[in-house]
Amino acid sequence: MKKVTAVAPVNIALVKYWGKRDEIAVLPYNPSISLTLDALYTETTLESKSTPGVDFILNTQHENPQKVIDFLRRFEGFNPEDGLTIRSFNKVPTAAGFASSASGFAALSVAANTYFQTNYELSNLVEITRQGSGSAVRSLLGGAVMWRTNGSIEPLNATLDDYAFIIVMIDENKKQISSREGMKRTVKTSSLYENFVSQSHKDAEDMKEALNYNRFPLIGTIMEKNALLMHATTMNAEPPFTYLKQETFEVLDILTTLRQNNILAYATIDAGPNVKILLEKKNVNTVIEALNRAGFNQVLTSKITTIGAHLKDE
Ligand code: DP6
Repeated sequence: MKKVTAVAPVNIALVKYWGKRDEIAVLPYNPSISLTLDALYTETTLESKSTPGVDFILNTQHENPQKVIDFLRRFEGFNPEDGLTIRSFNKVPTAAGFASSASGFAALSVAANTYFQTNYELSNLVEITRQGSGSAVRSLLGGAVMWRTNGSIEPLNATLDDYAFIIVMIDENKKQISSREGMKRTVKTSSLYENFVSQSHKDAEDMKEALNYNRFPLIGTIMEKNALLMHATTMNAEPPFTYLKQETFEVLDILTTLRQNNILAYATIDAGPNVKILLEKKNVNTVIEALNRAGFNQVLTSKITTIGAHLKDE
């Protein structure tokens, strides 16, 4: 019997990946930068079984394994006729439903690389992992990570101990337009898209420097502007769409007011209405209190970790 478990953290992009210049190899139009979360992660176990075929169990529920099978074909030695059980858990400390394809594919890749004894080096693993999900490659490393337009990843210098994220849960339901579909439509139809790409190249350079010199609030300012520009591109697509909800804007307003009172906290938003707030650790309680006062009670806090996707000792 063979059994391999890997753990991969969730990452949150400070400069967003939004749009593929190559849909097959999954290469982005613009560089993106993320920080790796400590409290949210996916744990995935590959285990041999005596009956043929692949079983895929996500958070204790059996799912259609086709997507996982297609992904695992990239690992030499994988045969879908052999007996294999894949168990994947998204570990979220409080609120449920913060599923992440990024940590999921990173954990699956790292587990598969050992299970099938391919032992691909990191650059090869990056190439495979991003075909599962682009943002997943940033979960292969810990800390601050840049994903370049040539497809490679680079760890960045950053003072991570100072910071935390607060995640404000606004809607736990599955998004109606996946990020894959959303970015495709934006690239094709949004006249703001070119602007997003050129601005994000600049934002990535500026963010790298701001992280290196630990310049908060510059880090937060670039992050929030970059996210809002990404969301502006979707509103200008054909047909237009948005992931933002009224509550998203309410949280943005709370942060503006806090900043006016010298509590520096900044927002970023992915392909859904939930808000991720980057702030200095010392302000976590103050910001949570302000959110609670406004009725946002579903929040969770995470530190940044330097530990990326890795095997877990059984
Ligand atoms: C808005 O990595 O989910 O979260 O490559 O099509 O799987 P695919 O897309 P995905 O896109 C993530 C988009 C984002 C921004 C980001 O994380 O950089």
